Amino acid sequence: MNILVLYQSRKGHTRQAAEAIATAARSQNHNVVVKSVIEVRKVDVEAADVLFVGTWVHGLILFGVRPAEAELWVPALPALAGKPTGIFCTYAFNPRGSLTIMADLLTARGAKVTAQRAFHRSRPGHGADVFVREVLQSVGLAV
Ligand SMILES: Cc1cc2nc3c(=O)[nH]c(=O)nc-3n(C[C@H](O)[C@H](O)[C@H](O)COP(=O)(O)O)c2cc1C
Repeated sequence: MNILVLYQSRKGHTRQAAEAIATAARSQNHNVVVKSVIEVRKVDVEAADVLFVGTWVHGLILFGVRPAEAELWVPALPALAGKPTGIFCTYAFNPRGSLTIMADLLTARGAKVTAQRAFHRSRPGHGADVFVREVLQSVGLAV
C-alpha cells in the first residue's frame, strides 16, 4: 500500500519521527513517501492509501499547548479526502491537548483520524513500529 508521511518540523525532531514511521512502514512492505507539510501536493495525497501527519507542539500563554503553526499549514494542505490518518507530535514537556486539536483540525480537512501518538523529542522514533501497526490494523492493512 502507499503511505504518505507528512511532518511540520522546525529543529528536526518531528522529521526524525516521520522518518522512523517511514522506516517502520517500509519494514512492513509498504511504499512510503515522506514530505514536509510545505512541499506536499494534491497528487501526493491522492496517491496515498494511508496518511501520517505530525507536528511539533508550541505552548502559548493564552491558548495552551497546540500543534505549532497549525493555523498556517493545516489550511494550506490539500483536501484529505477521507484518508485514514495517524497523527503524531513531538514535544519536550507535555503535549497536553495538542493531538486532540490536531485531530479536530485535520478531520475538518477531511481526514479520518484512526490513531495518535506523542513522541518525546529525546526519542523521536521510539514506538514508531507499534504506532504504524496500530494505524494499519485500523484499516486492515497490517501484515
Ligand atoms: C517556542 C517553543 C515553544 C514550545 N512549547 C512547548 C510546550 O508548550 N510543550 C512542550 O511539551 N514542548 C514545547 N516545545 C518543544 C517542542 O515541541 C519540541 O522540542 C519538538 O520536538 C520540536 O520539534 P522539531 O524539532 O521538529 O521542531 C516548544 C518549543 C519551542 C521552540
